[in-house]
Amino acid sequence: MITEAKQKQGGRGPGDRPHVLLRWRALSFPADWDAVFRAPAPVAGGLSVEVGFGDGRFTVARALAEPDMRFIGLEVSSGSLQRALKRIERSGARNVRLAKAGAQVALEQLFAPASLDAIVVNFPCPWPKERHAKHRLLSRRFLSLAGSRLKPGGEVRLATDHPEYLGYALEEAAATGLYAVLRPEAPPGVFETKYALKWRDQGKPLHYVVFRRNASEAPEHPHLERPDPMPHALLRGELPLDPPFAKVVLPYAEGHVILHEALRSLGGEDGRGRVLVRATVEEETLRQQLMVVAQERGAGEVIVRLETFGDPLVTPTARGCVHAVTEWLLAAGDLSVKARNY
Ligand SMILES: C[S@@+](CC[C@H](N)C(=O)[O-])C[C@H]1O[C@@H](n2cnc3c(N)ncnc32)[C@H](O)[C@@H]1O
Repeated sequence: MITEAKQKQGGRGPGDRPHVLLRWRALSFPADWDAVFRAPAPVAGGLSVEVGFGDGRFTVARALAEPDMRFIGLEVSSGSLQRALKRIERSGARNVRLAKAGAQVALEQLFAPASLDAIVVNFPCPWPKERHAKHRLLSRRFLSLAGSRLKPGGEVRLATDHPEYLGYALEEAAATGLYAVLRPEAPPGVFETKYALKWRDQGKPLHYVVFRRNASEAPEHPHLERPDPMPHALLRGELPLDPPFAKVVLPYAEGHVILHEALRSLGGEDGRGRVLVRATVEEETLRQQLMVVAQERGAGEVIVRLETFGDPLVTPTARGCVHAVTEWLLAAGDLSVKARNY
């Protein structure tokens, strides 16, 4: 029988195939990669991350060429994810797992310090306009994080068609002081990805550079804690019947919270009053859609807590979401604070 824990960790899939697509938000931070790669047969080699794998052709080629290595692909596009999943399934590769996740947050949360052999970035979106520079992946912020997750001697490997992007990455890497720069020939497959072929057909020169982790100490990039129970507040009193609500945007920690709407529940198993608030939490490297529930508990008590639905990441600004809903209820009704735990 496949337990939920096994599934979360990417255990055995139908017909003895691995669960390639990870429910990464439900993994421990950092993830237990030995558990993730245990089934259907253990793979225990080094760890390599590929950011923005696109249709996955390079990922599959490497996984088949190095069956003892463990490859983890991070991608934000659902379409690319679907294409890569099909390709992996057809290939029969057992040593690849994929996550639909932004590279910064996934690298930060899923990997222990000094645990990675390589971070591969083939043809990242160049964001050439200056006003879009903040979207470029290989910023000093990302390279500092990458430096903390790579083993000594581990590598960030960049392929790009864009000379300005190459210049940008070299400058940003130099600013971290964490890398030596090498210019080897691109290994097989790098200049044969979907985008490599597209740029080559247009006659663009392709560039390959390796940033090799040196011996200097990397800054710390701590993992998020998994709070148990979820962040919450306890209030004395009853939920107001029809509290006035208006959409608000509130700064909190290093991001901001948007409360979009409040919905009264039409019942539930216990028949108690319940209000759901739909919210967005935006931080520099993460945007989450969240639900905060305010629920009567009997004995004249109301609990306001972050819903576990969707495996939210409990960041400082996500905690602020509970605060914002608590403050809204306090302003709207005859409630007082018993405890705040967020
Ligand atoms: C230009 S495509 C290159 C795809 C593939 N590497 C190739 O060479 O064919 C860039 C890819 O990076 C993905 N991407 C962009 N930002 C990302 C991020 N922060 N985390 C993960 N993937 C990202 C995009 O969805 C897109 O699939």
